[in-house]
Amino acid sequence: MLHSCNQGKMTIWSFCLILFLSNSILVLASHVRHLCRADQKNALLEFKNEFYVQELNSNGIVGDKKTEKWRNNTDCCTWDGISCDPKTGKVVELDLMNSFLNGPLRYDSSLFRLQHLHSLVLGSNNFSGTLPNSIGNLKYLRVLSLGDCHLFGKIPSSLGNLTYLTNLDLSVNDFTGELPDSMGNLNKLTELHLRSAKLSGKFPSVLLNMSELTLINLGSNQFEENNFSGPIPESISKLVGLFYLDLSLWNTERAMVDFNMFLQLESLMFLDLSYINTRSTLDTSIFSPLLSLGYLDLSGINLKTSSTLSLPSPMGTLILASCNIAEFPKFLENQTTLYYLDISANRIEGQVPEWLWSLPDLKYVNISQNSFSGFEGPVDVIQRCGELIMLDISSNAFHHPFPLLPNSTTIFLGSDNRFSGEVPRTICKLVSLDTLVLSNNNFNGSIPRCFENFNTTLSVLHLRNNNFSGTFSEESVSEHLRSVDVGRNRLSGELPKSLINCTRLEFLNVEDNIISDRFPLWLRSLPSLQILVLRSNDFHGPISFPGESSSFNKLRIFDISENRFSGVLPSHYFAGWSAMSSVIDIVDVIPSRYAGRDDSGNYQNSVTMTAKGSKIELVGSVFAIYKTIDVSGNKFKGGIPESIALLKELIVLNMSNNAFTSSIPPALSNLTNLESLDLSKNRLSGKIPPELGKLTFLAQMNFSYNRLEGPIPQGTQIQSQKSSSFAENPGLCGVPLQETCGGGGEEEELKKEQGEQKEQVFSWIAAAVGYVPGLVCGLTIGHILTSYKREWFMRIFHYFT
Ligand SMILES: *[C@@H]1O[C@H](CO)[C@@H](O)[C@H](O)[C@H]1NC(C)=O
Ligand SMILES: *[C@@H]1O[C@H](CO)[C@@H](O)[C@H](O)[C@H]1NC(C)=O
Ligand SMILES: *[C@@H]1O[C@H](CO)[C@@H](O)[C@H](O)[C@H]1NC(C)=O
Ligand SMILES: *[C@@H]1O[C@H](CO)[C@@H](O)[C@H](O)[C@H]1NC(C)=O
Ligand SMILES: *[C@@H]1O[C@H](CO)[C@@H](O)[C@H](O)[C@H]1NC(C)=O
Ligand SMILES: *[C@@H]1O[C@H](CO)[C@@H](O)[C@H](O)[C@H]1NC(C)=O
Ligand SMILES: *[C@@H]1O[C@H](CO)[C@@H](O)[C@H](O)[C@H]1NC(C)=O
Ligand SMILES: *[C@@H]1O[C@H](CO)[C@@H](O)[C@H](O)[C@H]1NC(C)=O
Ligand SMILES: *[C@@H]1O[C@H](CO)[C@@H](O)[C@H](O)[C@H]1NC(C)=O
Ligand SMILES: *[C@@H]1O[C@H](CO)[C@@H](O)[C@H](O)[C@H]1NC(C)=O
Ligand SMILES: *[C@@H]1O[C@H](CO)[C@@H](O)[C@H](O)[C@H]1NC(C)=O
Ligand SMILES: *[C@@H]1O[C@H](CO)[C@@H](O)[C@H](O)[C@H]1NC(C)=O
Repeated sequence: MLHSCNQGKMTIWSFCLILFLSNSILVLASHVRHLCRADQKNALLEFKNEFYVQELNSNGIVGDKKTEKWRNNTDCCTWDGISCDPKTGKVVELDLMNSFLNGPLRYDSSLFRLQHLHSLVLGSNNFSGTLPNSIGNLKYLRVLSLGDCHLFGKIPSSLGNLTYLTNLDLSVNDFTGELPDSMGNLNKLTELHLRSAKLSGKFPSVLLNMSELTLINLGSNQFEENNFSGPIPESISKLVGLFYLDLSLWNTERAMVDFNMFLQLESLMFLDLSYINTRSTLDTSIFSPLLSLGYLDLSGINLKTSSTLSLPSPMGTLILASCNIAEFPKFLENQTTLYYLDISANRIEGQVPEWLWSLPDLKYVNISQNSFSGFEGPVDVIQRCGELIMLDISSNAFHHPFPLLPNSTTIFLGSDNRFSGEVPRTICKLVSLDTLVLSNNNFNGSIPRCFENFNTTLSVLHLRNNNFSGTFSEESVSEHLRSVDVGRNRLSGELPKSLINCTRLEFLNVEDNIISDRFPLWLRSLPSLQILVLRSNDFHGPISFPGESSSFNKLRIFDISENRFSGVLPSHYFAGWSAMSSVIDIVDVIPSRYAGRDDSGNYQNSVTMTAKGSKIELVGSVFAIYKTIDVSGNKFKGGIPESIALLKELIVLNMSNNAFTSSIPPALSNLTNLESLDLSKNRLSGKIPPELGKLTFLAQMNFSYNRLEGPIPQGTQIQSQKSSSFAENPGLCGVPLQETCGGGGEEEELKKEQGEQKEQVFSWIAAAVGYVPGLVCGLTIGHILTSYKREWFMRIFHYFT
């Protein structure tokens, strides 16, 4: 139209333009009228208001607050996350994946008025409640995606009403019980995702009625265990369309499994049978008919020896960890498409064959936890593998010479071997190197002095327990560092000041060296620092400086024990140490494998702690939520700073072996999570505050070698201690000591003292508030951490008993 007008005169042109414009306005208006139906729009706006939008406390997930951009005065069909049927204006798709929605999905939610939905995608939000039965009202749904939504309770039987469903995702939730029988009606279902949905019971036989299934994911990972148990029914072989089957961590309860049942599934491309707890032995060659197989994980299943191991199809990923393999699987030589190989935790000895490094696509290799002693071929043999990204050779018997690595190497894990001599300087040329772990070897010489160079991106440097000497120099510090462990070496000199530029640093452990420096208060400016261990070095001088805040606000492990620190800790010293005073936590430093299998490397942070007089090494997730202060074995004097009582999440407090004086602050009883308290070998006087009897988790305590007096407080935890925990105090009496207490006005005296102390405490709390703006904002911890905590408790319990 416009084109023909252009040929005419100006006036005609203008007229045409007006016509054109008004025409388009009409078109637009008709969109408004016909596209967005008022009832649908209102339902959506009400749905929006059922939730509050707030970033979830989950790591590094990038989301989009889609609903915040919805406006009543605009066409709802143009809103983010909405698609309408263009003819009827009915909302047919709602996709609010990862939109930070918080709040329960109510049974009468206006969502259920969107009767025409074909696709409902609400994954990765926080509904923190049950999935209401009314979900069955959305009867035209084809796609229903509710993965990682913090849903719990039973899966409603009304799901069986959704007979058009082709795609159902309920993975990573906290459901209980079994799949409802009604789901047997879902005979159009092609994809069923139930990974880590925390379901339990026998194999859901209703699945076998779903003849269209191409994908079943019933798998799990170690920390979110579906809890399916019992036999895998052989009728699974009827699902001939399956290309993806994940039954990992299915608990067959040590029963025999007839692997032939999988052979009918000729379309299988992905098969994960890891850790199904069977005692059957498997000859992988039976998988020969599975010509499409590209991903196979048989970890935890006993495999027959390598001569019969073979697979005809071109594999991409092969994971055979803990399969009791004794010889390097030779058939891999012809697996030229392999890019991910894991044959860790087997019994393979000798040399890694030279041909391995000629597989052209190989990028990830895990041969850790075997008994390899070397690499066949010349010292640069691995460099043939020009695309290698990750190499894990840890826990073997590798020794000198250290292999030359290809320039593509991003993650190199070589701990627990027998390497010696200096780390070859060729390591400095690996410009992609992100993770270097060489702990527990016999390296000597200096730490490579080439990571400061602007071009390296090194973020994990673990060189623990070697023989490195000289200074930890500034040239060894890359500003990308996130985790540094150079503990248990013979490093001297000062801490490298360039650490101040490592804004991502979370973990710094230099324990057991001979570093001689003043207290690195400057580290408090590092915004991510969570763990600082200076234990057992030659650090000296005060740790508190007048006029300077000492608040390390993300720190949760502070271990400066066994040094020569001195001086008085002012009473507000621990004000502003927010991470220890609230349940907010950052779980970044947990090795990534705990978040499921991925490629970002497996290294473990570790720290040593002293409990019951002996050293314990805590590794990996064990101390993921661990909050501790250890200033023992220094020369501190003066009173115990009262602000310690603010650190309510503290689990271990060790101030022993100093010269602390004055009395024990009763406010210590606010540390209700405390499990271990050691105040021994100081010059503390007065009484043990009776309030400490209330600390129900306090399993370990030591008040010995002080000048304490009066009755030992009542309380089951205290009374069950050994008498040695109270020994060498001239005036203490009562159980568990032999000395009985004489009667007399002691209790009243005690009450009076407490009154005075409370007032003191109050005044510095008021002063501390300024330091701690975020002190009470920590409600967001979530169940993940709780489960880590549970595991930690169990392990600690085990250590202590
Ligand atoms: C949207 O606007 C209409 C008309 O202005 C009004 O009737 C309706 O209540 C509004 N909806 C919401 C959810 O505010
Ligand atoms: C929906 O499912 C429930 C429970 O399975 C059932 O009682 C109800 O009759 C079903 N409704 C329809 C319309 O099919
Ligand atoms: C599976 O389908 C068969 C008929 O095809 C039916 O008899 C059986 O009840 C169904 N099983 C379940 C669990 O729905
Ligand atoms: C797993 O299921 C078994 C019985 O099927 C039950 O005894 C056990 O408590 C369940 N475990 C968990 C973690 O739910
Ligand atoms: C690899 O393939 C070649 C040629 O097809 C064959 O000769 C050789 O035996 C195969 N090697 C193994 C270990 O299967
Ligand atoms: C690795 O990169 C360096 C330059 O950084 C280059 O000199 C060397 O040849 C490369 N090595 C290989 C094996 O490609
Ligand atoms: C490192 O150890 C090797 C033997 O493994 C020895 O020859 C060398 O002198 C040592 N170097 C240093 C700096 O101690
Ligand atoms: C770092 O990279 C730049 C360009 O990529 C290069 O010019 C420079 O020489 C490199 N520096 C070092 C120390 O390798
Ligand atoms: C930190 O980085 C800045 C900018 O790159 C640099 O000027 C400064 O010297 C560094 N500080 C230390 C202590 O290395
Ligand atoms: C290598 O395998 C071991 C044992 O199976 C496992 O613990 C480790 O996490 C794996 N390494 C990587 C980088 O995934
Ligand atoms: C200890 O807790 C009590 C009660 O929660 C509170 O009143 C008091 O201020 C707390 N004291 C300190 C030092 O945090
Ligand atoms: C999810 O919501 C619940 C209740 O609203 C809240 O307690 C929890 O901290 C939230 N979880 C996350 C990860 O934000």
